[in-house]
Amino acid sequence: MTTHTEIRVFEAGDTDAVVALWESAGLTRPWNDPRADIRRKLAVQPELFLVAVESGRIVGSVMAGYDGHRGWLYYLATVSDRRGAGIGRMLVEAAETRLIAMGCPKVQLMVRTENEGVRGFYDSIGYEPFDIWMTGKRLIAD
Ligand SMILES: CC(C)(COP(=O)(O)OP(=O)(O)OC[C@H]1O[C@@H](n2cnc3c(N)ncnc32)[C@H](O)[C@@H]1OP(=O)(O)O)[C@@H](O)C(=O)NCCC(=O)NCCS
Repeated sequence: MTTHTEIRVFEAGDTDAVVALWESAGLTRPWNDPRADIRRKLAVQPELFLVAVESGRIVGSVMAGYDGHRGWLYYLATVSDRRGAGIGRMLVEAAETRLIAMGCPKVQLMVRTENEGVRGFYDSIGYEPFDIWMTGKRLIAD
């Protein structure tokens, strides 16, 4: 029997499972409170915060945003026992579909330098690396 994977908008009741997913996927950092990140996202374009669900279990997430110029993806993760099953691709495509519907011309994301292993995934889904360095400043401490 093939597993049915549903992509739907995040709901508040998903919080614990999504935080656990991010922690196990290595996406959280001590200076970034994931629950605060979720609260902020629920206030800004919550319809672009998506989860993948199989038989009621959260198996993936992606948090997208459109700033009026570019679309961004954050917190893309799938549970370790379901990797390679196409869920990551489904999540990215679902986010892209919603961004296109908003008129967003390009989507991009940041990958931590140490996360070399994920390059093959982005190559597979048609994302092209570009030569840039990032800079930033924290405005609100968590
Ligand atoms: C990156 C991640 C979301 C990929 O999710 P996934 O559900 O395994 O991806 P998919 O099954 O949809 O894979 C899509 C394609 O990418 C390929 N792929 C997936 N992971 C890969 C990897 N590490 N190296 C090379 N190719 C990879 C798959 O083989 C598949 O290729 P195909 O379509 O040609 O068969 C998942 O590995 C993950 O959660 N990693 C930890 C968190 C993380 O690093 N997130 C990204 C932050 S920038």
